[in-house]
Amino acid sequence: MNTSIGIGVVGAGAMGSGIAQVAAQAGHQVVLFDSNAEQLTKSEAALLATLSKLVEKGKITEAEKEATLSRMVYANNMEAFATCGLIIEAIVELLDVKQDVFRKLETIVSPSCVLASNTSSLSITSIAAACNIPSRVMGIHFFNPAPLMPLVEIIPGVATNMDMLQEVKALIAGWGKSTVLTKDTPGFIVNRVARSYYGESIRMYEEGIADFATIDWALKTKGGFRMGPFELMDFIGNDINYKVTETVWEQFFYEPRFKPSLTQKRLFEARYFGRKSGKGYYDYSAGATMPEPTSDDALAHQIFMRVICMLINEAADSLYLGLASREDLDTAMTKGVNYPKGLLRWADEIGVETVVQNLQSLYEEYGEDRYRPCVLLKRMARDGKQFYASA
Ligand code: NAI
Repeated sequence: MNTSIGIGVVGAGAMGSGIAQVAAQAGHQVVLFDSNAEQLTKSEAALLATLSKLVEKGKITEAEKEATLSRMVYANNMEAFATCGLIIEAIVELLDVKQDVFRKLETIVSPSCVLASNTSSLSITSIAAACNIPSRVMGIHFFNPAPLMPLVEIIPGVATNMDMLQEVKALIAGWGKSTVLTKDTPGFIVNRVARSYYGESIRMYEEGIADFATIDWALKTKGGFRMGPFELMDFIGNDINYKVTETVWEQFFYEPRFKPSLTQKRLFEARYFGRKSGKGYYDYSAGATMPEPTSDDALAHQIFMRVICMLINEAADSLYLGLASREDLDTAMTKGVNYPKGLLRWADEIGVETVVQNLQSLYEEYGEDRYRPCVLLKRMARDGKQFYASA
């Protein structure tokens, strides 16, 4: 991989534009291409506006702004990628369209050029399968907005050359990002482990345990989460959040822990996307007032324990199945979704035995597979072990 020559980015939408900015600010020559010329013009104007704002705020100098802009090439054809050492694809989330782009890229770039996808939900292996040299294909998953979010998940496909992957990981770390290595499984780390934050909260609402405002308040107060699950779903957009849930559930062969809810599906169907549509779990129209939570301390504790135990169960299962290391699992959740603590560290604080007891009693009460405690947690509880130190 020769990245001193340049980084290519395919797709100048929200993610591609952000990734291009990160690479250019890190000192690379960047070639940005989009099949929609208008999008490319918009992206160019947006970068100028962003960098000008950073100069105004004193975050970068005028000279740095000019240098970054001078490193950007806005290309109207893919042949401009010929000299790049690494290309990151961030186009529409459709497998056949992505595979076409990768096939075309292979006819343009050198054999040593790394081809990466920023996909959130497709398997890296399935994208690589379209290529003549699948060993050079990997996932480089940034979070939105790419210039601000520190986490990047690095994902090998079945055929990926691991030396090449480590080289790319080091390169992205050099851009000031926290990189974590994870297996090619649905949702990678963050979009898989975070599912219970939403799913279990909706479930409690559906059961009539508490309303949206009370659940949000409980998780912020007891857990120190920056946003409650319903506020966060409205912020992300119920269209995006619902689709991620559905995709992860389907791709895990309908695993009950990831089952989507009818509550969110109906909001999605009604186009109650959240903040961007003016209505979601909450009403954001002018003059609307936010509902007050029921400030019941015991209820808040019950809500928090149910959600945190489900989250810990998922993180523990991910560790048990070798999805990522203990440290990377914790980094992913603190840097990718701003959790106040890593979930495995949190498990140690709460006590692994307490977590298992909570899950076990939910499992017995509901009789649903969704609540089964992870075997790793059960063994650790039995042996008095902790994730970060032996008891
Ligand atoms: P977007 O819709 O903002 O941008 C996609 C861009 O790709 C558009 O400008 C479109 O014109 C262009 N495009 C479509 N087909 C193309 C082709 N064949 N050749 C060249 N350009 C093409 O999408 P967004 O949100 O930037 O997502 C891009 C990728 O990043 C997707 O794979 C998505 O799953 C992933 N992603 C998105 C995140 C998000 O929060 N938006 C977070 C992390 C990953």
